[in-house]
Amino acid sequence: MQHLKPVKTLALASACAALFAGAAFADPDLSAELVINDGELTLVTRAPSDDVITPNLPERYSGWLFRDAATREMEMDDFENPAMLAVEAGADLWTTVDGSAGQSCADCHGDATESMAGVRAHMPHLNANGVLWSMEDYINNCRTERMGAEAWRWSGDQMTSMTSYISMQSRGMPVDVQIDGDAAPYWEQGREMYYTRYGQLELSCANCHEDSTGLMIRADHLSQGQISGFPTYRLKNAGIVSIHNRFRGCIRDTRAESFAEGSDEFRALELYVASRGMGLSVEGVSVRP
Ligand code: HEC
Ligand code: HEC
Repeated sequence: MQHLKPVKTLALASACAALFAGAAFADPDLSAELVINDGELTLVTRAPSDDVITPNLPERYSGWLFRDAATREMEMDDFENPAMLAVEAGADLWTTVDGSAGQSCADCHGDATESMAGVRAHMPHLNANGVLWSMEDYINNCRTERMGAEAWRWSGDQMTSMTSYISMQSRGMPVDVQIDGDAAPYWEQGREMYYTRYGQLELSCANCHEDSTGLMIRADHLSQGQISGFPTYRLKNAGIVSIHNRFRGCIRDTRAESFAEGSDEFRALELYVASRGMGLSVEGVSVRP
């Protein structure tokens, strides 16, 4: 396996003085425990690192650990978690007939709590033709090819509601994606992207989420950029944000042209970033600033 040397920035501050000006370090609160609904379920927010996937991380941390107490608490109680509205909307869509075949998701997949358990934990994965697909691809394929219905927009309300509902069926399961065999070329493509510097600021994902984890940039406490919490309710957007939408936002922050949501590049990046969180719990739906 080819090993890329992570590009370390000698002077991050000189490349983007404005961004990192006044940056301060703040430890994540590693003693915090992500307990759902007063003890119903405890999620794993710290997982061991390894030499193959995350040789530069001492340990894997959920983004939840980096949030302030008020935001953390919102995710600990399903009545407080604003993402639960999307989960409910997704549950309704699950049983809604749509398209020329006159079927709903439930007609084929039955009870989602059983048929969709573990699906989020293994996403993205290779389809029957050996092509890497994200959850959105599987959903839209069922809609267009099996239901005779129209595809949903990648980050539209219906799609994010459905991905929220399906992801909830894996809450508490460890992230576990396939990165070897036929998945290996995708994973390597994603890794290469992760260490590529983008935009006028010439920053890679790793520059921020690996080299600078723990720094405060403006009001943001930099996490490891994990996707174990996605889809996520962003308080700033007052809505659900998909994985690819978040990637796009981060690349745009480097003042670069971004790849499109649903692009092959973002699928590969998704697989690689998912693998960096192996062992962390799928959070179902998370809350972030
Ligand atoms: C006509 C039957 C049918 C309908 C209706 C249908 N699906 Fe599917 N779906 C399938 C089949 C068959 C597969 C492939 C199963 C396999 O290969 O493991 C699948 C696969 C999936 C997968 C991937 C599962 C995995 O293990 O990764 C998801 C997610 C999914 N469907 C969601 C949906 C959603 C959401 C709807 C409604 C919008 C829906 N499906 C409607 C038959 C259907
Ligand atoms: C200029 C620094 C910077 C770069 C470069 C950057 N990000 Fe981010 N990213 C942030 C900030 C700030 C946040 C919000 C605070 C946090 O969760 O770390 C964030 C958040 C995220 C999150 C959400 C984490 C969570 O728990 O909700 C993901 C996922 C992410 N970034 C992935 C990436 C990927 C992949 C790349 C490369 C394509 C990238 N980022 C590049 C600054 C950056």
